[in-house]
Amino acid sequence: IEAALTDGPLRGRRVLVTSGPTHEPIDPVRYIANRSSGAQGTAIARALADLGAHVIFVTGPADVPPPEGVEVIRVETAQQMLDAVQDALPVDAAIFAAAVADWRVKDAASSKMKKDKGGLPRLEFAENPDILAHVAQMTEGRPTLVVGFAAETDDVFANATAKRARKGCDWIVANDVSDGTGIMGGAENDVTLIAGDGAEDWPRMGKTQVAARLAERIAQALG
Ligand code: CTP
Ligand code: CA
Repeated sequence: IEAALTDGPLRGRRVLVTSGPTHEPIDPVRYIANRSSGAQGTAIARALADLGAHVIFVTGPADVPPPEGVEVIRVETAQQMLDAVQDALPVDAAIFAAAVADWRVKDAASSKMKKDKGGLPRLEFAENPDILAHVAQMTEGRPTLVVGFAAETDDVFANATAKRARKGCDWIVANDVSDGTGIMGGAENDVTLIAGDGAEDWPRMGKTQVAARLAERIAQALG
């Protein structure tokens, strides 16, 4: 059984997966975050491990538990996620499925903000590091394959194609998460895989099936 689990086309490969949201503190009891169950990232990590990869799974506080058989690194903030990703390098492939908060609160309060202290709070924001762009644009030790996600609500294909170019990643997995699609928090996904040499529209299918298909493609790409 051991052998069956570690055998497969990705045996001997190190693959990094980021997943889940990040939480950016406002004070010790409050935070801002993106919506993310962590379901798709978790399914991808599991699918890669099933093909024999050594998976380093860097996850924010997700709803779903991390998969078995992967190396789990739990983080809270975007900055911690970047640090964990840098510690995990070098890897053969890196898949960025996390819904990273774009902004953090500048000078988060170290004690709880109280309602009776001077009216409404004013939060000042700072931009978080772009972890995907950082890795995709590495000049030394860049992973062979860097895959990003683009969850969009409008002009999905155009936005995702522009995102791929801007960030410098090899592939973008684009999906439409607008209201009524049931993708956010649901069991299914409807993705378009955008690569440098074209795009593929995948039929709507379970997140587990999306993960399995993506893992197969990653195994092919790494050869
Ligand atoms: N990402 C990241 N670090 C960030 C922001 C995003 O690694 N600070 C990654 C996500 O994991 C995803 C990809 O970048 O793989 C695209 O994220 P998205 O939020 O769609 O892109 P942004 O550049 O933040 O653009 P937007 O203004 O649409 O949010
Ligand atoms: Ca974003």
